[in-house]
Amino acid sequence: MTDMEKAQLVWGDDGVLRSAVFDDVYFSIEGGMDETDYVFLKGNDLPGRFAGRDRFVIAETGFGTGLNFVMTWRAWQKAQERGEVSRNAVLEYISFEKYPMSGVEIQEALDGFGDLSREVELLGLDYPTAPMRGVNKIDWHDRIMLTLVFGDVNDWIGEMPFKADAWYLDGFSPNKNEGMWTERVFEWMGRLTANGGTISTFTAAGFVRRGLMAAGFTMKKVKGFGKKREMLAGEFSSNIENGVNKSRERNPWFSIGRAKKEAMRALVVGGGIAGCAAAWSLSKRGLEVDVIERDTVASGGSSNLAGLYQPHLSVAWSEQAAWVNSANDYVERWLVKHGEKFNDKLFHRCGVFHPALTEREEKRFKSILKARHWLNDTVMHWMSKEKAAEMVGYDCACGGLMVEMGGWVRPGMLCKLLLNTSKAHVLEGKNVLRLIKEKDKWSAELAGGEVMGGYDVVVVANAIDARQFDWAACLPLRVVRGQLSVMNAGSELKCAVSGGSYILPGIEGKTVVGATFGPDDWEDDVREDDHTKVMTGMREVLPKLAEAMQGVEWEGKVGFRCVGEDRLPMVGRMPEVEFYKNAYDDLKDGKAWKNYPEGQMIEGLYVSVGHGSRGLVSGMLGGELIGAMVKGEALPVGRRVVEAVHPARFLVRKLKRGET
Ligand SMILES: Cc1cc2nc3c(=O)[nH]c(=O)nc-3n(C[C@H](O)[C@H](O)[C@H](O)COP(=O)(O)OP(=O)(O)OC[C@H]3O[C@@H](n4cnc5c(N)ncnc54)[C@H](O)[C@@H]3O)c2cc1C
Ligand SMILES: C[S@@+](CC[C@H](N)C(=O)[O-])C[C@H]1O[C@@H](n2cnc3c(N)ncnc32)[C@H](O)[C@@H]1O
Repeated sequence: MTDMEKAQLVWGDDGVLRSAVFDDVYFSIEGGMDETDYVFLKGNDLPGRFAGRDRFVIAETGFGTGLNFVMTWRAWQKAQERGEVSRNAVLEYISFEKYPMSGVEIQEALDGFGDLSREVELLGLDYPTAPMRGVNKIDWHDRIMLTLVFGDVNDWIGEMPFKADAWYLDGFSPNKNEGMWTERVFEWMGRLTANGGTISTFTAAGFVRRGLMAAGFTMKKVKGFGKKREMLAGEFSSNIENGVNKSRERNPWFSIGRAKKEAMRALVVGGGIAGCAAAWSLSKRGLEVDVIERDTVASGGSSNLAGLYQPHLSVAWSEQAAWVNSANDYVERWLVKHGEKFNDKLFHRCGVFHPALTEREEKRFKSILKARHWLNDTVMHWMSKEKAAEMVGYDCACGGLMVEMGGWVRPGMLCKLLLNTSKAHVLEGKNVLRLIKEKDKWSAELAGGEVMGGYDVVVVANAIDARQFDWAACLPLRVVRGQLSVMNAGSELKCAVSGGSYILPGIEGKTVVGATFGPDDWEDDVREDDHTKVMTGMREVLPKLAEAMQGVEWEGKVGFRCVGEDRLPMVGRMPEVEFYKNAYDDLKDGKAWKNYPEGQMIEGLYVSVGHGSRGLVSGMLGGELIGAMVKGEALPVGRRVVEAVHPARFLVRKLKRGET
């Protein structure tokens, strides 16, 4: 994937913002707001086409300063004030940007647009502090959803399965930035446009017009803005089926399409992080949600005093890294937005220090820093042994990687906050024995014979116990025992430290040291040996603290992680196994270009399990992904990541190996 890079900004003597890379302007010298209004809003017949819509999707190439976004948002609000658009309607705005600006640069750039000051201020507050390569979905105000995809549009456009009602084809002039105006981009625009969708662009270049026509748009030249003679506007007119399924880059068996019917009621099985997060995300989207928990909320894997959250430490981009990084970003945003008043009690963004215990590790950490998955050095940086001692609060064994975008969070409190800030209804002490589908509604049979029914959607989030359901036989779930030691003493630690063990700074006068890793071990006894193991891990990284903790009373806490076989969770819709076996029977013969049918899913059935050792972040994003899927919104991660966590993947792998 091509890297994203920092925007190179120059303010000209004329007061207009330019890119030093392209020697072109961000907006017109003749008036940025008028230009946006003319070229992109009027060019797409907006705001008129907003009227009466429950959802309107706009996609853009080149977010730049966000002026187009802010003006569109304003136009949407005005349409709402005029009563043309319902207050419950959703505006989705998806924008690709290879050279992101920082929040501060955006504020400076839009400073002159006094009229838009409220929107600009809010954009500054919610714009990512550390723009991350890939999908950055932001839960916006007033039911506006902004998805910023940082990276080259050529690399990322095929990653986003949405259907745009309008395209803003922005980007610097084609003769200064020909790399953006490619056939690939035009072709994908066609695939990603809803029936009746429109497009506009400031340029009238012939190859752009021809490229868009080849992609299925009827294009016309219209009068350009200001002194520009012409520009292009068009409508999607192709009568070919323009879905993403025409793309060869796609795996039809990983169907992610939205539920057939508008879902109103949802049942969530399991009250751990994964279940509570799903309940929160569905409730936020207007569904009536019941959570059924066998025991009490956060009594399973999510019952530890506290756990670590942090990004994935990897050099290369991978689906796993992208999942964890998006999850970590989502959790940080969520905690700041909804849990700020509980800061230091619910979570602490204290940072996580990783001592480089070997030369190899030092090399790896330095390569991670070079990989620049974020455009901001505040996410992580190298720290010398001396500086680390100061920042950590104890002498460290060596220098290492300081990850600022991380810390600790208390899963039990987080589960409760998720439920308290949603309208979900919780039923504790009720064990779901069976899930039954009749016509298009789901019901749950509980121990004792009670039946709860009338659900359009069921989210199964009961970790390893998902195996109790027949249809889950295709999910290779395993259990990994873990023991952590809760030391009955606080410490001077100022941040979390992670090496052989992880050590969290004092929480309620206790220090958490974890955790062991025992695959397929179901025993819940507290083991002295396991305590010795985690304390040895602590000694390796923080010898002084380990010394101070000698003889301190400790309590062992045993829990069970639920894991898959590829370090990624299983999140999404469940496949109809028999359909898969019939439709994809010959996958083993390697018919790469055969036109396979779309994978069939069990209508209304979703899972969020297998969150492993990262459940505090992964479970949260799992819930949000399901919320977005149920509503058919732009997803919070790209297509490859959605496929990498797809519950059908194990089945497909088996079919490819001829094992079913
Ligand atoms: C020792 C240890 C240390 C860890 N440290 C970290 C860490 O530092 N950072 C991190 O991110 N993650 C960590 N994890 C992992 C993390 O805790 C888990 O991944 C996460 O809690 C899983 O959440 P969950 O909701 O999927 O499952 P759970 O929390 O186990 O929730 C599942 C719930 O479903 C309920 N249930 C089961 N069957 C039924 C049924 N039939 N009907 C109704 N309810 C049912 C259960 O009672 C349970 O409450 C750690 C795990 C362990 C064990
Ligand atoms: C004229 S500016 C866009 C202005 C913007 N729409 C606004 O409202 O401020 C063009 C934008 O396209 C971005 N861009 C250029 N090439 C790109 C590419 N290959 N992929 C994604 N974005 C690109 C630039 O970084 C720049 O921000």
